[in-house]
Amino acid sequence: MSPSDRPVLRGERDQARHVVPAGTVSDRDRYDVIVVGAGIIGLSIAWRAAQTGCQVLVCDPDPGRGASWAAGGMLAPVAEAGFGEAALTMLALQAARAWPQFAADLEGATGRPLHYTTAGTLLVAGDPSDREALDRTLAYHVSLELAAERLTTRQARLMEPLVSPSISGGIMVPGDHHVDNRRVVESLIHAASDAGVIFLAEEVAAVTHDAGPTSGVRLADGRQFGSDAVVVAAGSRSGQIDGVAEADQPPVRPVRGVTLRLQADGAPQLTRTVRALVHGRSCYFVPRPDGGLVVGATVEERGFDLAVPLGGLGDLIADARRVIPAIDEYALVEVAPGLRPGTPDNGPIVGPTHTPGLLLATGHYRNGVLMAPLTADDVVTTLVGGIAADGPFANFRPGRFQSGDPGESKPHKAVG
Ligand code: GLY
Repeated sequence: MSPSDRPVLRGERDQARHVVPAGTVSDRDRYDVIVVGAGIIGLSIAWRAAQTGCQVLVCDPDPGRGASWAAGGMLAPVAEAGFGEAALTMLALQAARAWPQFAADLEGATGRPLHYTTAGTLLVAGDPSDREALDRTLAYHVSLELAAERLTTRQARLMEPLVSPSISGGIMVPGDHHVDNRRVVESLIHAASDAGVIFLAEEVAAVTHDAGPTSGVRLADGRQFGSDAVVVAAGSRSGQIDGVAEADQPPVRPVRGVTLRLQADGAPQLTRTVRALVHGRSCYFVPRPDGGLVVGATVEERGFDLAVPLGGLGDLIADARRVIPAIDEYALVEVAPGLRPGTPDNGPIVGPTHTPGLLLATGHYRNGVLMAPLTADDVVTTLVGGIAADGPFANFRPGRFQSGDPGESKPHKAVG
């Protein structure tokens, strides 16, 4: 068995699940896996790992909040496809295909609907120059053989009558779906707990080592917890954990996004996600079955600052009102800022590092909700079965940025 095939976890795992009641977590307990971060990525990994019989500890001061909570829940591999990012788009399409089973499994585990919705996404252009930009996007979609259809303004408004007659046509993307991301993270916390995952509402200060391999984590208060594997899934903070070798540190940066939570209160509603390009700026609308509407999002590079400047918010509201004038009748319920984990090539960083036992699952930037199920499958496969050289994240492994070639992966000496 080569190092690349070897599972990360050492020894036989007890298939019995040991649920330690909250408040009784002891630093004498040892885990198969410690997951640093309980956003949608960390929670999905923890749940799926626990389902294989792993004993899992998750450390996060505020599980399920952060970028996963601020998100809109779009599962949009086509609408979010960027020029020159074909490999990322192919990964995103594969990630979207993992969602139906993941949603069914999670709903089955909790009995609680996630409002996974397959009505497609309507892209609209705010003005003729936005229309030209959308036509270039459509040509790109067609070149990648993605399903997308050009619409006139009339056709777009037949699909979504709330869209303003002043728009300049659109594109229908039938394969881009959405889900209620807040229901997903809440369900994941329940399902993971039921599967035996222990949650510790503490921040991890450092990854610890045992003469080389990862041995666990140390909290800010000095307590240490041992494990065979540590998965860093701490979103935009993933590069800030001590004890991670320089070569293993993920180059993630925070990219602030602010969403608005609106409530229809009897006003007419959208039936599917609408995305718009308005004077070159994009905004989106993701409806909820209870009359809620998520409007997003700003894209701001302001470090770890979660403040909400009126300028960016004002632009977002102006663009949103131009596309869907009916939102004037909606009530503003919440302004939700979050920090997306951006990377130099906009792609995620998933898989083992050069340090045995240390894995990364971060850098999902605008695609965290979309890629959570596929990321969890890949990480759990690596943990229990060894890394698949040709797996979906082969082009998005840790270490690719050190090579100077963002498209090239060098993961295979990572697992000890
Ligand atoms: N994926 C939506 C956003 O990043 O705003």
